[in-house]
Amino acid sequence: MFRIGQPEIDAFAAVVRSKKLFRYTKGGQCERFEKRYARFLGVKHVAMTSSGSAALTAALAALGLGPGDEVIIPAQTFMATALSVVTVGAIPVIVDIDESIMLDPAALADAVGPRTRAVIPVHMWGRVCDMDAIMRVARRKKLLVIEDACQCAGGAYHGRMVGGIGHAGAFSFNYFKNITCGEGGALVTNDAAAARRAACIIDPCNFFWTGRREDFRPFCGTGSRASEFEGAVINAQLDRLPGMIRTLRRMKNRVLRQTAGLGLVPAKSNSPDGECGSNVVYQFPSAALTARFAKLVGGTILSQTGRHTYTEWDPILTRSGAAHPALDPFRFPENKGCRMNYRKDMCPQSLDILSRSVIIGLHPDRTAVEIDKLIKSIRSAAAAVVKP
Ligand SMILES: Cc1ncc(COP(=O)(O)O)c(C=O)c1O
Repeated sequence: MFRIGQPEIDAFAAVVRSKKLFRYTKGGQCERFEKRYARFLGVKHVAMTSSGSAALTAALAALGLGPGDEVIIPAQTFMATALSVVTVGAIPVIVDIDESIMLDPAALADAVGPRTRAVIPVHMWGRVCDMDAIMRVARRKKLLVIEDACQCAGGAYHGRMVGGIGHAGAFSFNYFKNITCGEGGALVTNDAAAARRAACIIDPCNFFWTGRREDFRPFCGTGSRASEFEGAVINAQLDRLPGMIRTLRRMKNRVLRQTAGLGLVPAKSNSPDGECGSNVVYQFPSAALTARFAKLVGGTILSQTGRHTYTEWDPILTRSGAAHPALDPFRFPENKGCRMNYRKDMCPQSLDILSRSVIIGLHPDRTAVEIDKLIKSIRSAAAAVVKP
């Protein structure tokens, strides 16, 4: 999805020339990004991490989640969302998505049990969750909300940037994302106490460089500090993000406009102007029609990405929670009352929707001619597949 070139080469080279490769150098690149990204998102605290998984895990742990807690996650996301819950000692509860391909707020409300303490809405595919509905349920049921915005840098929900709407949010800057520094991530929050705990989780040794504090007692952890190379590259990427998202949104709107009126049904959008515009998704009444359309346009059926549906999350389905059995949250006595009876058929609504949804990816560097060609192919596939 990303664009990359000379600005990133220059930013990287400047770090090499400076020989300042450690993030605690004053005025360093990671710190610069954290300040800029906080302004961009309109949040108080941003902490760079080595990955999106590390950002999610730090967010959950910083908010105090752990053994004895259930955390609700959607049936379609990258497996890392589920793993982050297990990593902090809690248990993921997998809940249906709705026609928008995002967590179904009604299914969320129904799924909350006595052990449920948090929910992770995932803004998948650069699309956005119905955050008003989710926050309403969360307030009513007293849940913490950790937004997984790993696939949605630059996305917004009715004018509010995603990641900063719940109690904390996580972004990934890995190779597949809107902005990338190869590997990397960021945790974001408006909660000062959570930010202090997160800093310790991300780098438990940080006080050797940032100083000991009277008001905070550090605890043990492994750490997931980002490097100045990542900081430099992601700063250059952030410069590109607003322009890239504008281009993608224009492209998506053009495709949707010029394929309207043919009987095609685009997936419901929770915030049409806020989506990143990275793709268009069409839905069909049957799996057979979906397969025909996907083949004709070269799109992907969302149940067949090979890794994003819960049925493919082997360590979760088999409850293999840790390298050492004594550290396995699925065996913790505290988690005895948590729901962990995973079955491949447990979310039939999600499996049905995903098997009837075709995603067609866009890229900001696609030319007008290429988009014309895509529109033509969607129109002719619609003529072949959709009944008048
Ligand atoms: C929705 C989602 N959550 C979490 C992650 C984990 O991010 P990372 O690969 O940077 O650890 C990803 C990465 O692909 C993702 O797509």
